[in-house]
Amino acid sequence: PEMLSFIQGLPKTELHLHIEGSFEPELMFKIAKRNNIEIKYANVDEIKQAYSFNNLQEFLDIYYAGASVLLTEQDFYDLTWAYLTKVHEQNVKHVEIFFDPQTHTDRNVPFEFVLNGIYNALEDGQKQLGISFRLIMSFLRHLDEASAFKTLEQALPHKDKIVAVGLDSSEVGNPPSKFQRVFEKALNEGFLTVAHAGEEGPSEYIWEALDLLKVTRIDHGNRCLDDADLVKRLVDQQTPLTLCPLSNLELKVIQDLKEYALPTMMEHNLLVTINSDDPAYFGGYMNENFWGITKALNLSKVQIAELAKNGFKASWLSEQEKQEFL
Ligand code: HPA
Ligand code: ZN
Repeated sequence: PEMLSFIQGLPKTELHLHIEGSFEPELMFKIAKRNNIEIKYANVDEIKQAYSFNNLQEFLDIYYAGASVLLTEQDFYDLTWAYLTKVHEQNVKHVEIFFDPQTHTDRNVPFEFVLNGIYNALEDGQKQLGISFRLIMSFLRHLDEASAFKTLEQALPHKDKIVAVGLDSSEVGNPPSKFQRVFEKALNEGFLTVAHAGEEGPSEYIWEALDLLKVTRIDHGNRCLDDADLVKRLVDQQTPLTLCPLSNLELKVIQDLKEYALPTMMEHNLLVTINSDDPAYFGGYMNENFWGITKALNLSKVQIAELAKNGFKASWLSEQEKQEFL
């Protein structure tokens, strides 16, 4: 369809992507084999059949199991390179991606294997594919404060490579306030901050992310619509929300893309962006996310183009770098 080629042709950003969530079954088998690790599925089809989730936690259990075959620096390089070549085909020009060091360091994979593998691929992506990037280190919120502090310490020698810290994993019961002191230290060390909030958790968690963690963006943030004062705050400050439509659908945050509150959010003048979250698990990269909402909500080219531009506005590119795309 013509709309699909319009989406394809738009220069895009991706601001909410867990690199471990881009791990496609084919590559998972390849890496498991070379690391002599058994995986509990017989083939790619069996893996894909297992990808059916009723909530965030059911997804996380499978996502952490998948990531457990990643051992060497080369594994992290290959994972990241596969993602970059994929989004390059989709005309993505700039990415700001998460990695979850604790998922790997808790299995005794050295922090530097993870970081260097990912970072070297990002640098090659910039050189060979023209994709600019920023890297965000995300803390697992189901783990304790001490583990997050230890992870932050490991990142300090690598401030040249990591620009921000984030917060992901099981949201309900693990509010942003649990990590207030860790984020305070991260801010003092010069990192930017972001946090997943209001995906499954309540709008109060979004307030906490803003007031206690001083985030510059909210990841997901759907639940802000429950609180008019919060919407006003987000609009006044133009705090970006990194929405992930297919993720919300697959994790049953919404039951149908037709009921997605995106048009309401745009009417409120919230700075909303479209992202894929964990594309290997949720059935689509950037174009598939844009195409899904376009079909379901009958979006116009003007609206789609605005969403793509919002990604550049919401990014940490310099004002000068942004100009090329706005
Ligand atoms: N939410 C929380 N944690 C995550 C997600 C998500 O959507 N994806 C990967 N880790
Ligand atoms: Zn996410």
